[in-house]
Amino acid sequence: MRTDVVRLGRLSGERTGDIMHFLSSMQADRQIADADLLVDIAHVLMLDRQKIIDKNITEQLIPALLGLFDNGIPEEVFDEKFEDVHAGIESLIIEAVGAEAGGRMHMGRSRNDEVATCIRIRLREEQIGLMEEILTVREVLTALANNHAGTIMPGFTHLQYAQPTTLAHHLLAYEQAFSRDFDRLRDAYARVNLSPLGAAAFASTGYPIDREYTASLLGFDGLVINTMDAVATRDFALETLADLSILMTNTSRLSEELIVWSTSFAKFVTLDDAFCSTSSIMPQKKNPDTAEIMRAKTGSVFGAFSSALMIVKGLPLSYNRDLQELTPNIWRGMRDARTSIRLLAGMLSSAQFDTRRMNEEAGKGFSTATELADTLVRSYGIPFRTAHSIVGRAVQKGDLTLKTLEAAAKEVGGGISLKGKGLTQKAIDSALDVTYSVTIRKSPGGPSPVATKKAVTGCRKNLVADRALVSGRVGNLEKAKKNLITKARRRVA
Ligand code: ARG
Repeated sequence: MRTDVVRLGRLSGERTGDIMHFLSSMQADRQIADADLLVDIAHVLMLDRQKIIDKNITEQLIPALLGLFDNGIPEEVFDEKFEDVHAGIESLIIEAVGAEAGGRMHMGRSRNDEVATCIRIRLREEQIGLMEEILTVREVLTALANNHAGTIMPGFTHLQYAQPTTLAHHLLAYEQAFSRDFDRLRDAYARVNLSPLGAAAFASTGYPIDREYTASLLGFDGLVINTMDAVATRDFALETLADLSILMTNTSRLSEELIVWSTSFAKFVTLDDAFCSTSSIMPQKKNPDTAEIMRAKTGSVFGAFSSALMIVKGLPLSYNRDLQELTPNIWRGMRDARTSIRLLAGMLSSAQFDTRRMNEEAGKGFSTATELADTLVRSYGIPFRTAHSIVGRAVQKGDLTLKTLEAAAKEVGGGISLKGKGLTQKAIDSALDVTYSVTIRKSPGGPSPVATKKAVTGCRKNLVADRALVSGRVGNLEKAKKNLITKARRRVA
């Protein structure tokens, strides 16, 4: 049976399965196993180039590593007796090529810089995947907004009818939120995609290593320069988890709205059956379970973020094993956020909006009262606060007819006569018209079709630029990986 080469010298005695399981990161390390192989290859190429290892050592190590790359990492590497995947792969290589060559692979590095490098490699891929998924949600929202520029619906504050708006306006608000989520991840990536490799345990190494070289082989944009910082920090992961948490608040709010909009009393939207469940007892039920789970996953992502924060907060520099316990929270948070965002795109694009129902509700609850007050200001020269009081009092009295407004003006308008100023029922009626109210709100970012069409154009432009940025990053990483493997193959050809 292959032994754990790391423990061999210093420690003796059998460990129980319980202890091994407690200390091992092996299950979570499945996430970074492929990255670890790339790190090994880059490290060996660097040792070779710097003449830290002899040619013939490289010529044994590289084929063994490429063998794993080509055929996949065998299951035995993931045995918990190895503590982690780094020790597992090293043990396998030593067995494959012997201790003379295999035992030189770990020169000038530590698992501390190794694991930090692997996490960053895996995380940047996840970030890119998530950014692509956010782009899809933004595209769906933009397309829906474009189709619903003329769909009038009630807008709410405090979940009370407030003012009429358009569905386009409402959806574009989410598009903006998701585009900020995208930007945050874009910025976080710049701090993730830096190489800690070469930091070794924390104090770097006396071997003449070339950190820049391994960084570029692995597709990093630079170094985490201070070697103590390089192994000790997980702030790049905290930052990403914070970004995921904020992203999920937006997802959760939209989920909540879809839940409310699909209630029997709102009936603004019908979600596709694929995203719904029924009841085991009530045969008529159609429940918005996907949106509910998204709302709940938001809590799970917050949990991952707060676990990570708690784990790191009391740690002295540099590496402490506690950091191992933080890592699964990154993958957990990512998994939940990415699945939610992916499903959200499908749930939105397949949703049927009932434009008639929305329009029907848009004028309820005196929702155009603001426009009436504004009309009193614009057309009859009344101060806004006075107009606000008059209309408010008329609402209290129960309607917005000329007669009631006149009475209200007597009470709270300082005795002015609206009729005397020329107000007619016709003018009131047109001020109260929902279409009118929406149409004149055409300043930038407003709900009118003119404004939302302009906003859609802006969104489309940003989407093109953001897509290009993501494919640029994907291209860079693919190029680096191809280059690394080609270099390794050529070196031993
Ligand atoms: N499995 C460890 C982790 O995830 C790798 C680093 C181990 N370093 C050590 N000094 N024990 O953090």
